[in-house]
Amino acid sequence: MPKILTDLPGPKSQECLAKSRRFEPVCIGDQMPVVWAEAHGCLITDVDGNEFIDWCSGVLVTNVGHCHPDYVAALKDQCDRLHNCYDFLSPQRADLAEKIISVAPDYLDKVFLVTTGSDATEAALRMARRYTGKWEILAFHGAFHGRTMGAASAGGSLGVKQGYGPMVPGFIHSPFPYCYRCPLGQESCDSCGFKCLEFIDWVISKESTGQLGAVITEPYQGGAGSIIPPPGWFEGLEKWRQANGLLLILDEVQSSFGRTGKMFAMEHYGIQPDLVTLGKGLGSGVPCSAVLGRSEIMDSLPPGSMGSTNGGNPLSSRAGIAAIDIIVRENLVENSARQGAKMMAAFQEMQAKYEPLGDVRGQGLVLGLEIVTDKASKTPDKDMSRRIVEECWHRGLVLIAPIGMYGNVLRVAPPLVITDAEVQESLDIFEAGLKAACG
Ligand SMILES: Cc1ncc(COP(=O)(O)O)c(C=O)c1O
Repeated sequence: MPKILTDLPGPKSQECLAKSRRFEPVCIGDQMPVVWAEAHGCLITDVDGNEFIDWCSGVLVTNVGHCHPDYVAALKDQCDRLHNCYDFLSPQRADLAEKIISVAPDYLDKVFLVTTGSDATEAALRMARRYTGKWEILAFHGAFHGRTMGAASAGGSLGVKQGYGPMVPGFIHSPFPYCYRCPLGQESCDSCGFKCLEFIDWVISKESTGQLGAVITEPYQGGAGSIIPPPGWFEGLEKWRQANGLLLILDEVQSSFGRTGKMFAMEHYGIQPDLVTLGKGLGSGVPCSAVLGRSEIMDSLPPGSMGSTNGGNPLSSRAGIAAIDIIVRENLVENSARQGAKMMAAFQEMQAKYEPLGDVRGQGLVLGLEIVTDKASKTPDKDMSRRIVEECWHRGLVLIAPIGMYGNVLRVAPPLVITDAEVQESLDIFEAGLKAACG
């Protein structure tokens, strides 16, 4: 349980922060000044010995908890054996591909391993273009697929684009169903008949030159503020893209390996994506990412046409194998669903009590709390969001800096090993922080 021993940030933290300011660029991030020394399970210790409950999992990475003993043992063992062999084969790479396929829907039967989520996005885009022979791809406003140029171009927000010159051509964007703030001005997703799906045809008719080959989307938009499409939207999109003969690339870099209370978020919907990108929780700490797909597509690229220096290296592969084994053996998918439902119910109760909690949404252990000046106007309140994060930090709970299209969404994403006691304790701290921020 959390333990605050010093003023925050403590003296050793301040020293580290000064060094970082001296030697690192300011573009890195905007988190609370917590200097992590170590972490175990759901508990972070900073360099001054202060302890915090983790609602970040890094950034939705350490699904199996920090430094899980079996994960650490596997990595230590692998460290003594082999770290890199380029695209020569190691048993670990083939074993990880087999392991991913063993937990995936049956029709997805090949895996291409890379290192980061952005790498996986780029690889999937290249595969889709090469397989279809077409170069236009439909993507969605608000989407985040990474920061490399292809991934940023597929993205649907200015944050990754502005100031970087022309993007990669070929991406066509359409509105995502952000029902709390419908971009098409509809009152309710129950009655609108999915105007945003109808709108896609209009966008395509105005922007496509007949080269549309694929659609890329996240199952829920993470960076845009944990935006979850309403029931039926994905099935509508699936019907539309099949009718138009398009591939579906599902970006599960953030949403997979138990995060949403299913092994993969695609299991919440009646969809069959052709290519699925994976990252974050796959390595659960050691960088490891992948494209999972149908062999018909993946085997259409000739030998040597895709590759990577670190992709599928024995250490990251071993990390992936250990993480999946732990997720399955310890029923972490089920724990994510159970603890997530408990947290959702608690946030809904708080929503009724506190004016700034405008919207509460989530699936499993990824929840988004949208902070507003008042429920009637829904005006985004970025300053209040930041104050809540700060008040929680001072009480021993670490959240990621506010996210979302308006910088006013709190992201709640603890490691999937979180216990009943840690859920209760962290919710109590959160409510105390929220109350203090409200004044
Ligand atoms: C949905 C999604 N796709 C892609 C990425 C990019 O991953 P990385 O930062 O590992 O390149 C992220 C990272 O946050 C993500 O959330």
